[in-house]
Amino acid sequence: MLRYVTTNPGKVREAENYLPDGSIRQLDFDYAEIQATELAPIAARGAREAYHRADEPVLVDDAGLFIDPLDGFPGPYSSYVENTLGIDRVWEIASGLDDRRAAFRCTLAYCDGDGFAASPDPIDRDDRVAAAAAGPGDDEADADDAGRREPLPVKLFEGYVPGRIVAPRGDGGFGYDPIFEHDGQTFGEMATERKNAVSHRGRALEKFAEWHAGR
Ligand code: IMP
Repeated sequence: MLRYVTTNPGKVREAENYLPDGSIRQLDFDYAEIQATELAPIAARGAREAYHRADEPVLVDDAGLFIDPLDGFPGPYSSYVENTLGIDRVWEIASGLDDRRAAFRCTLAYCDGDGFAASPDPIDRDDRVAAAAAGPGDDEADADDAGRREPLPVKLFEGYVPGRIVAPRGDGGFGYDPIFEHDGQTFGEMATERKNAVSHRGRALEKFAEWHAGR
């Protein structure tokens, strides 16, 4: 059984649309989020920690909102910024910008303790950060049962959706959905199926589902 590692059941429901019936179950586990400027190392580190906890295949989902003219802020700090400033303040900051282009990004990190030498690399960009994420770690999540510092292999899948920051609209979704507009509608205004069809998480799940089905 694949465990989808998140404290947010909404993400699991989204994932269920892409994977065979009954093949995933939520693992309500709050892994330690390291500080990094990219999502990949955070998700990879989380997947290793979660695999040690679950002892079953795990999929960790790390996402964030990246505002182009703010050099990607809040990015990997999206959760902290949502909980401290809140999305109305983020909109206030963005409303003073001429260029309000932004993107949601999602990185899925899969770990089942096995290697992936025979599989194609699903990451669709030249990503040295992802390669670094698969490299040696330095804490207990990366140590094997004998205490050796052998990092567990992690496979990464990335999804992206472009849009722009707008004044809040819509009651649906969660997080930054009301201030993120894609194709004329905010994610907060979209029906769940429509959001899934275009979202960063949907794109990453599509890649993961295709790869996982072929294993
Ligand atoms: P995490 O990946 O659950 O840690 O999410 C990081 C931050 O991005 C949190 O503040 C979430 O609310 C926000 N976030 C992640 N995915 C989405 C989304 O699909 N819509 C809106 N906000 C999101």
